[in-house]
Amino acid sequence: MSEQTIFGKLFKAKRNWSVMPIQSGNCVHGAEKTVQKALQARLLELPVGEWIKEGARREKHWLSEDGLRLLASNFKDEQKHDEQLDYCYRNLTLCDRETKEEIEKESQEIIQKWFKMGEKYHPILVTWIAEQSVFFPVLTIYRRLGGVQLASVAAEISRDEAIHARTNGTMSKMLGQQITPELDDLRQETMEWLTSDLDGSIDGIYGQQKSYLDQSYKLLHEGKYIEFKDTSAAIMVGFFETHRSHIPRYGTV
Ligand SMILES: [Fe+2]
Ligand SMILES: [Fe+2]
Repeated sequence: MSEQTIFGKLFKAKRNWSVMPIQSGNCVHGAEKTVQKALQARLLELPVGEWIKEGARREKHWLSEDGLRLLASNFKDEQKHDEQLDYCYRNLTLCDRETKEEIEKESQEIIQKWFKMGEKYHPILVTWIAEQSVFFPVLTIYRRLGGVQLASVAAEISRDEAIHARTNGTMSKMLGQQITPELDDLRQETMEWLTSDLDGSIDGIYGQQKSYLDQSYKLLHEGKYIEFKDTSAAIMVGFFETHRSHIPRYGTV
């Protein structure tokens, strides 16, 4: 398949959605710190957007119109993800202030390391690794441990990210980019930090740190992680779980 066909198909597969309101709510009991850490990963959305933009700038001499249109649209998606996740971060109170501050401080160190990778390596490669092996596990945490609202957010963002990861993975391959041990180590370090509070007290595979570490590794190196395949099922939010502004008001003008 030509580059033009792949990128044209990916662009057509996109579905638009709007940022949804979030009100205070709970996550799975015992996962509060993990979900709070996962929300901290939102700080990579805008840098990833910038890397996509920079990647398009660097490669515009060979990319087709379809390719450039897709990258521009993916860049916009990252801004929407940032807005949506920031909304979640501001409206969900999962941890006390002290814990939140501690998480913010710890995350800065990791985020700075990602910034350095963005400068050192091709920005499309770094974006692909972040999406494929950090964002997908983070989205699984939202979906399985984050409660109803974060599960809905994860469903929307996941569809975008699946297209982004295909775009950036395809481009990285075309450019002959390779995953380096340094990038792989940062992936592992990020995932260990994100899931270090899962101490076995939550039942099932979605409560275990090892599952997310395996998911991250296998998604990057093997392209799939079948143990979590039921996350592809659609999310249907119950009437009682829907934000009141999203419920149709019959009979009102
Ligand atoms: Fe994103
Ligand atoms: Fe993305």
